[in-house]
Amino acid sequence: MWNQFQKSISLSKYSSFGIGGAARYFAEVSDIEKMQEVLRFCYQESLPFHIVGKGSNSLFDDAGFDGLVILNKISFCTIEDCRVSVGAGFSFSLLGSKTARKGLSGLEFASGIPATVGGAIFMNAGANGFEVKDCLQKVSFVDARGALNVYTRDELDFSYRWSCFHEKKGAIVAAEFLLTPRKEAREEQLRIIEYRTKTQPYSELSCGCVFKNPEGDSAGRLIEACGLKGAKVGGAEVSSLHGNFIINTAAATASDVLKLAEHVKTCVKQQTGVDLELELRKIF
Ligand code: EPU
Repeated sequence: MWNQFQKSISLSKYSSFGIGGAARYFAEVSDIEKMQEVLRFCYQESLPFHIVGKGSNSLFDDAGFDGLVILNKISFCTIEDCRVSVGAGFSFSLLGSKTARKGLSGLEFASGIPATVGGAIFMNAGANGFEVKDCLQKVSFVDARGALNVYTRDELDFSYRWSCFHEKKGAIVAAEFLLTPRKEAREEQLRIIEYRTKTQPYSELSCGCVFKNPEGDSAGRLIEACGLKGAKVGGAEVSSLHGNFIINTAAATASDVLKLAEHVKTCVKQQTGVDLELELRKIF
C-alpha cells in the first residue's frame, strides 16, 4: 500500500486557513471499504494518521504532519422522504441548501458552515441555535483497526462543539439524518446564509470561530469590546468584521495564528476576567 500514497504534500491547500507544512504521506479515500483498508494498514504499520474533510477548524503545524493525512472524499448523498443518508466527505453546507430546497427542515443552519459532514459531526457544529446532534440519527465509523461500527444517536455523546469522536481513534465515514417537512425551510436557509455573509468574513482564509463562546456571551463581542479587531501578528489578523475570526491576510504561519490567539486570550482575561477556550484544533 505504501506505493498508493503521495509523498510530501503541502497541507496548506487542504486547510481553510491556507496554512500548514507538508504531510509525509497523503491519500484520498472515496469509499468506506477503502477507508477500512487504509486504517487497517496504518494499524499494522504503526503509521500515525489524520483525517481531513474541508480542513476548517483545524490548524496544521508549520512543520507539517509526520504520518499519513487522509482526505475523506466519501461523498454519496441520498434523500428518501425525510431520511438523508450521506457520506462523511459530502459538503455540510451543500447538504443544508439541498435539503432546504426539498422543503426539509433541520439542517438549514448548515448552509455556509465550511465543513464536511464528518467534520461537522466531529465538532458538533452549530449555528443559529441548532447543532448537528439535533437531527442526527446514525453515524458509521471506521475504528483504528479498520472495523466498521454503526452508532445510533443514543449511543453517542455530544455537547457544545464537542462529540465523543474526540476520544475515538478512526474515521467518521457516513451518517443518517432525520428531517421534517416544512415549506419555509428554503426561506429560513437563505436568511441564515445572508446573516452569515453579513456578519462573518466569509470570503477570507480562516478556520471559522477561533474560541468557544463563554456561557451566556459571545467571544466575538468580548474581543471587539477589548479593542482587538484588526490586531496582527505576522500575516494573521483579527477580523474587523467578526472578532472571533482570525484571518490569514498574507502568508500567515501557524505560529503567527497561535501567537495572535494567545495575545487575544491574555487581553480578554486582563480586561474582562473571562478565560477564552480554543475551539480551533491544533494538528501538531
Ligand atoms: N458581536 C460583536 N462583535 C463581534 C462579533 C459578534 O459585538 O465581533 C455580537 C453580535 O453583534 C451579536 C452577538 O455578538 O449580538 C453574537 O454574534 P453572532 O451572531 O455572530 O454569533 P457568535 O456567538 O459570535 C456563534 C457561533 C458561530 C455561528 C454564529 C451564528 C461559536 C463560537 N460561534 O457566533 O459559529 O456561526 O453563532 O449562529 O459558537 C464556529 O463555531 O466556527 C462559528 C462560526
